This record gives sequence, C-alpha cells and structure tokens, in this order.
Amino acid sequence: MSQQLKVAIMLTDEQKQQYRQQGYLLLENVCSSELLAAVKERAAHIVNTWQDSDSSHIFTTKDNDRSGNDFFLDSAEEIRCFFEEEAFDEQGNFVQDRALCINKIGHALHELDPVFEAFSHRPILGEIAQDIGLLEPQIRQSMYIYKQPRIGGEVKWHQDASFFFTTPQSVVTYWFAIEDATLENGCLWVEPKGHNGALRERFNRSGSDTTMESLDNTPWPTETGIAVPVKAGSLVVFHGHLPHYSAPNRSSKSRQAYTLHVTDARTEYATENWLQSEKLPLRGFNKK
Ligand code: FE2
Repeated sequence: MSQQLKVAIMLTDEQKQQYRQQGYLLLENVCSSELLAAVKERAAHIVNTWQDSDSSHIFTTKDNDRSGNDFFLDSAEEIRCFFEEEAFDEQGNFVQDRALCINKIGHALHELDPVFEAFSHRPILGEIAQDIGLLEPQIRQSMYIYKQPRIGGEVKWHQDASFFFTTPQSVVTYWFAIEDATLENGCLWVEPKGHNGALRERFNRSGSDTTMESLDNTPWPTETGIAVPVKAGSLVVFHGHLPHYSAPNRSSKSRQAYTLHVTDARTEYATENWLQSEKLPLRGFNKK
C-alpha cells in the first residue's frame, strides 16, 4: 500500500524493556493520515452496504454469554456488523443515525477485505512482532471498533488471553487508534505490570454453547488502572494477560480503533477457543 509510512520501526531496547516490564507499548505515528483515511472510508463503506437492522445483533461485554448467539459465533470467519447495545429505543428504532449505531465490524476483515488485508499484514507489524518475541505470528482476528458518540458501550476489564488461549500464553493485541482516543470518548485503560498476574477467566465454546470459566479470583484493577489517551495513527501493543478496559463514550465524538489479535504458531492454540480457523488462511505479516 503506497500510503504506508516508509520508516522501518525497529524497537529500541527501551521500548522492548517497556513492553516486557509494563506489559504494553505505545508507538506513535505508525499509520499516516492517508492510511487512516483509507481504512476509515473502507469501514464506512462496509457499514453503508450492510443491510441488517436486527436489534438482536448487538455486541456487549456485559455478561459475555454468547450461547446460542450464532450471529456472533458464525462471524469468526466473516465480516459482520454489530450494533451498540444502546442503538435501539423501546420501539426498536435506531436512537441516532444508523451508521452511528454500529458497535464494531468483525472478525475477519484482515483476510476478507482488500483494504484491511493490506493494512493488517504490513511488514512493519511483523518487525514489531519479532521484537517482542512473537517469532511465528498468526493473525487470528480483526475488529473495527467504533465507540460511537453518546452510545459507545463500555468494554469491561478483561484479558485477551481469555479469548485466545494458547499454551504457553502468546496472544498479543495490536490496538490502532484510527481517531484520537481521549478520556472523553473512551480511550483504552490498562493496568501497568498487570500482565504478570494470572489469567482470571477463560471463554470456552462447545458447539453453540459458550461459558466463561473462572480461573483466578484476583479483583480487576479499579485503583491501579491508568488511562492511555493516544493520537490517531498510534499503535498500542499489549500482552495477552494485561488487564484493559474502556469507558462508555458519552461525548459527541466517536473513538474509532482497529485491533488485531495475534498468536504464535509455536504454541498450542486451544480447541475450546471460540474462534477457530477452518476456511480462511492462517498467516502472519508480509515480509519486506
Ligand atoms: Fe480486549
């Protein structure tokens, strides 16, 4: 893709140490404004051509019960739009413009959409993966998250390894700020060093049944979390055990972000994970 920045980012020793010690790393200016505009426009195109207005097709982290939710479960290797939990009024009508009611697009943009495919497999992301020890990266999932103005839902504290369980733990999250993420519009919060703690729960799937299995009763960080406001074009890379959260968005601005979840092929990917690669290629980043 011609818009991508040509600067090769190799992480400095300080950056690698930051990732190891704190469990996350903020990299600014990883995406040019042209590239951001291209993916934003593409996401809007997907939303505008998405016909569904079924009020049951929402996404929420409130109870994480996705049993029988085939719309969600079958999105593993598809591109589907999910509505915000607060998208509909009591009569089932959209509370604001339909395009401002989409919670997220998931979960295989990185393979099925040409613009997101090019964005997701950029060699620069592979260099970062190598530098943080993900030697044989495989992209498992992609999501375009809107965090819409006024109704953008809270994402409760969680650890991404709960959803991408590997032995040993390997999942890393790439969180791209497509727009400025601020305290007002629901930026990411993390618990520095929290990746050293145990995995608290595990999301398992058996057919159409899902369960959230409790593994450890360490409380979620309410006092030790810190906000990570970032500029558009930034990338936050974080460890699968790092607790993270984002608040509801009650502001007038959306907080668009794009995420990738990446595991290491040298580890064993649990068959109980909800998302399995069956029909799509399972691959990492392009080489330079
Ligand atoms: Fe997460």
